[in-house]
Amino acid sequence: AAATLHEAEAATISQGVVDSDHAGFTGSGFVNYDNLVGSYVDFTLTPAQSGQVRLVLRYANGTTADRPMRITVNGAQLAPGLSFPGTGSWTTWRTVTVQATLHTGANTVRATATTAGGGPNLDSLTV
Ligand code: GCU
Ligand code: CA
Repeated sequence: AAATLHEAEAATISQGVVDSDHAGFTGSGFVNYDNLVGSYVDFTLTPAQSGQVRLVLRYANGTTADRPMRITVNGAQLAPGLSFPGTGSWTTWRTVTVQATLHTGANTVRATATTAGGGPNLDSLTV
């Protein structure tokens, strides 16, 4: 099936804001996670079929420190601290991919910051 892009700025945000001050994002902006442990973004995915998919997270991290995030799907942990390494600048966007199994109906993918730096700037999730 064709990939579907889900904008982070349209997702549910806990402890973060939508910004647009660093070029290269898609849509109208990106999520700037508050720089603390526990800030998160929830995406709702409603695939036509159940099965394994690739979750492609597009982000920027203008620091030299990793900004790891815990990734859960419907509350089940896929990755305790998926790495979002520095991209060189806040306007350099890269992707990180993780595999997940989705069911039909609504699925919640949550990306939660696990370190005091918070998450990276998050542009989108493509499935
Ligand atoms: C800067 C940058 C933000 C980023 C923040 C951070 O303030 O402009 O977009 O989110 O650093 O370190 O998280
Ligand atoms: Ca931030």
